[in-house]
Amino acid sequence: MFLALEGVDGCGKTTQLKLLTEHFIRHGYDVLATREPGGSRLGHDLRRILLDPAATDITPLAELFLYLADRAQHVAAVIRPALAAGRLVLCDRFADSTIVYQGYGRGMDPSQIFELCHLAVDGLWPDLTIVLDLEPAVALARAQARRPAAAAAPEGRFEAESLAFHVRVREGYRALAAQNRQRMAVVDASGSPEAVFDTIVRVLEERGLA
Ligand code: TMP
Repeated sequence: MFLALEGVDGCGKTTQLKLLTEHFIRHGYDVLATREPGGSRLGHDLRRILLDPAATDITPLAELFLYLADRAQHVAAVIRPALAAGRLVLCDRFADSTIVYQGYGRGMDPSQIFELCHLAVDGLWPDLTIVLDLEPAVALARAQARRPAAAAAPEGRFEAESLAFHVRVREGYRALAAQNRQRMAVVDASGSPEAVFDTIVRVLEERGLA
């Protein structure tokens, strides 16, 4: 089984991924928790380039192809082998991040990006993608709060984007999920981590995935 978690920066994905990993391990699964960008050896270097706040001159198209390169490598070198070995793969962000951030956020055509993602993943999509839905202003405040007080600068290039950018990202996720109800589910992420986790488990149970 292959599950992905998505949402705006600061929506709580990483916390939920940790809780889900512990949940599935308790239930006897061999879990691989991974993330994009950065889940492969090549991806580790690409993540540093992609999130460097000083890299202000990367063009939207170059950015798109770097995310696709990260994903192509991640799928081929890490995710497919793990699934083939019978492991359960939990991924912090996947192709929908590209459709939403580079498409809805940067203003490129989401359907064209979907096609490029389909090529990059060689047809492998998660069994379910859970979108943690949260007001971008609340999510960004959370992201800022978790940074050490000494680090005044935003963590990555996307955190430094305008609120309007993140509003487009959130709307992008909601639109995409509405068009793809089979493979995506939206979960309200405004509650406590425990409440959000309970909702995720309920959604997985409803779909026969937990
Ligand atoms: P993270 O902070 O959730 O690890 O994500 C890194 C940033 O990269 C986040 O701001 C979203 C962005 N991103 C894209 O713009 N496109 C993508 O395809 C992915 C995977 C992430």
